[in-house]
Amino acid sequence: MDEEGTKSECAVLQEGENEENKSSVQAESRNGETENQSLSKRQRKKLLKQQKWEEERELRKQKRKERKQQRREQRQNNPEEAGEAQSFRKRPRREATPSSLRLVVDCSFDDLMLIKDVRKLHKQIQRCYAENRRAVHPVQFYLTSMGKQLKQSMDEKDKGWVNWKDINIKTEHYSDLMKKEELVYLTSDSPNVLEELDQKKAYIIGGLVDHNHHKGITFERAKELGIEHAQLPLSSFVKMNSRKVLAVNHVFEIILAYLEKGSWQEAFFTVLPQRKGAVAVDQDGANTQEKEEEDSDSDSDTTEQTAKEPKS
Ligand SMILES: C[S@@+](CC[C@H](N)C(=O)[O-])C[C@H]1O[C@@H](n2cnc3c(N)ncnc32)[C@H](O)[C@@H]1O
Repeated sequence: MDEEGTKSECAVLQEGENEENKSSVQAESRNGETENQSLSKRQRKKLLKQQKWEEERELRKQKRKERKQQRREQRQNNPEEAGEAQSFRKRPRREATPSSLRLVVDCSFDDLMLIKDVRKLHKQIQRCYAENRRAVHPVQFYLTSMGKQLKQSMDEKDKGWVNWKDINIKTEHYSDLMKKEELVYLTSDSPNVLEELDQKKAYIIGGLVDHNHHKGITFERAKELGIEHAQLPLSSFVKMNSRKVLAVNHVFEIILAYLEKGSWQEAFFTVLPQRKGAVAVDQDGANTQEKEEEDSDSDSDTTEQTAKEPKS
């Protein structure tokens, strides 16, 4: 059933229940106990529950007051701990020196995704945003070709996105915004391996959660447009027990970590989830055993830390 249908059915059910409630209360107030007996078992149960809830109102209020008082006392007796808890909740932003490097999430694949995957992409973008905001060297963050399902998801699930700072959200395609010779498409299918980052370039990440159903699509796009392309130097630094195809936020965070640490190895180890089984390879590549498994796009570690600025 579609959403509208479900909603209206719920509304009808709700109305029905409300009517049932109203009539049962009215029935009781008019004729007291006698009428009450004529109520259905379900209505009587509801009525009793409602009465109990009303009776306990004061008790609940009292308990709330006590808890508040307890917290106040705790803060007074142990200000240090309270301060720590406070600063943990609100992690300060670090002193930032912005990088001139542009990092673009190309959202032109919207039509290829089901809404559930668009929602995953949305979470990954929230994570990118949060990580960039607290990065030591935040990049010039772009979302290009933004619209359709992604915009719908953002409007529905996170209205605050319209107030996001330090981000360029564009409906245009990146090729209409940036010079062709400055563009580098990051794609695991490229035969080129990224060695350094060039601050003058714009690196593009495919805004796609496709469980590898569209293998090679970004590589093809880069070739069609005649722009540079490169894969991250994963196999030179880590041996992974899963695929080389990473989620958008992982690629984004690896770039941020590389800008901070100046080492790919450190960047990979900081960002890649343990379950990928990242193991360092000897610098002569002795352990390098490339095994390109194509598991589904990681989204699980984007769930908690979206735009709230923490890190998992
Ligand atoms: C989930 S992947 C999308 C995979 C998609 N089938 C494709 O052809 O790109 C999301 C994006 O992260 C980037 N990416 C993922 N793994 C990468 C790697 N090993 N090297 C460079 N970029 C990578 C690419 O830009 C990719 O489009």
